[in-house]
Amino acid sequence: PLACTEKAQTTHESAIDRIVSNGVLRIGMDPGYMPFEMKDRQGDLIGFDVDLAYLLGDAMGVRIEFVPPSGSFASLMDDLYANRFDMILSGMTITPERNLRVMFSDPYITVGQAVLANIKHKGTVRHAENLNSTTYLITYLEGTTGAATVNNLLPRARRVSVASQEEGIAMVRDGRADAFVYDLPAFATLMAKEGKESFLFLDQPLSFEPLGIGVRFTDFQLHNLLNNFIRQIQADGTYDTLYDRWFLQ
Ligand code: ARG
Repeated sequence: PLACTEKAQTTHESAIDRIVSNGVLRIGMDPGYMPFEMKDRQGDLIGFDVDLAYLLGDAMGVRIEFVPPSGSFASLMDDLYANRFDMILSGMTITPERNLRVMFSDPYITVGQAVLANIKHKGTVRHAENLNSTTYLITYLEGTTGAATVNNLLPRARRVSVASQEEGIAMVRDGRADAFVYDLPAFATLMAKEGKESFLFLDQPLSFEPLGIGVRFTDFQLHNLLNNFIRQIQADGTYDTLYDRWFLQ
């Protein structure tokens, strides 16, 4: 027979019951993706996903608590099932592979992979495919769709994973790597701050990537709530205000 504690863990209490009774919605978020989730100078979380989470909390009448992954971005799905939080809101691309493990809301935005290259490649590297050679060292973040893009599109290039967005950018800047493959909005945000001469930014999206909010397979109510919430804010102007705040400089 199950011990009491084990039994408590296996009961099918829905996340929504717990959120309502505790008055807290716990959000799994890996702060390393401009302009979706990042830290300001004081170390506070800011960004598109952060504001989206606060809007959701307001709509539900609960407080928001942000929880970082136990490891890297890639650990968010295991952490969701370990009940460290109630949902993943972390710029996560909806892919069939991930969908085998978590249920996603309808997309709340669509992005794509892009290339940030060292400025010395300006004029010679025109398309991402030009980097498909052993001459080039390409960085990517482990467990992201950037990793998949590098494997599919640049199988001949030398590849090395980095632990953070900042490290990928620094390696490209210093010339320790030729290019970094990551989500386009992160590079667009960087370029808006840095100016055109600091990097070569190939801004043609290499993939079609809808981002969704992930919940456990058993949390149908939460899934339904999220889809209705997304549709509501997209229709009533709230979403546009949010979008303009983070994407139009
Ligand atoms: N969209 C990409 C993916 O799903 C990268 C997301 C990275 N997000 C983050 N918060 N670090 O793989």
